[in-house]
Amino acid sequence: MARKKVLIAPSILSADFSRMREEIERIKNADMIHCDVMDGMFVPNLSFGPKMVADIRPHTRLPLDVHLMIEKPQRYIEAFAEAGADFITVHYEACGEELSNVLDAIRRLGKKSGAVINPKTPVSVLQKSLSRCDIILLMSVNPGFGGQSFIDPVLDKLREARKMIDDSGLDILLEIDGGINAKYAPLAVEAGADVLVAGNYLFTSDDIDAAMESMRKHAGAA
Ligand code: DX5
Ligand code: ZN
Repeated sequence: MARKKVLIAPSILSADFSRMREEIERIKNADMIHCDVMDGMFVPNLSFGPKMVADIRPHTRLPLDVHLMIEKPQRYIEAFAEAGADFITVHYEACGEELSNVLDAIRRLGKKSGAVINPKTPVSVLQKSLSRCDIILLMSVNPGFGGQSFIDPVLDKLREARKMIDDSGLDILLEIDGGINAKYAPLAVEAGADVLVAGNYLFTSDDIDAAMESMRKHAGAA
């Protein structure tokens, strides 16, 4: 079987914000950069807004994957599009019946659109909006903080989402976010993930390149 390409997306939530430019340099061999936006309402934490994305933009050519953990995300998609996001992902739990409309609005801004679900939300809620998605993100921790442990039953959800995407014949990336490390990277890829977000694991490692390479290697072998 052909080796599957696995994309690594370090989460800058775990970076040192006072040295962000150097941190961006440290992850130059990643495939995309995951930017966690939190509003203190949808999740019990605050992170950063569009200015961080705009400030990073000139310092990397990597796609910026903006994960909006905010209420009524439609209020801010234009701001993040202008700031230089490439992917903008919004939570089903924050959009409800508006999800398809919000995804369409992201595409109208010329950006890749994505839907995110929390660990307890079933994959089936995404079926209706599938044709509007360029990426689907499954949370493997409850959103709000880096450094949490992977919730094992999400591996079954990954398999289910993989099947839903494959059955649809649509070109949609499957991303997993939360608690990814050397142990869970291969398990997630084996279950069907294309994109691995990793915050704590990568930013606490002395050699980020080696850590990313081992994630790719082990994942490819799965
Ligand atoms: C959690 C964020 C994640 C987080 C991942 O709310 O959406 O992207 O930063 O960090 P780790 O890999 O440390 O779980
Ligand atoms: Zn995230």
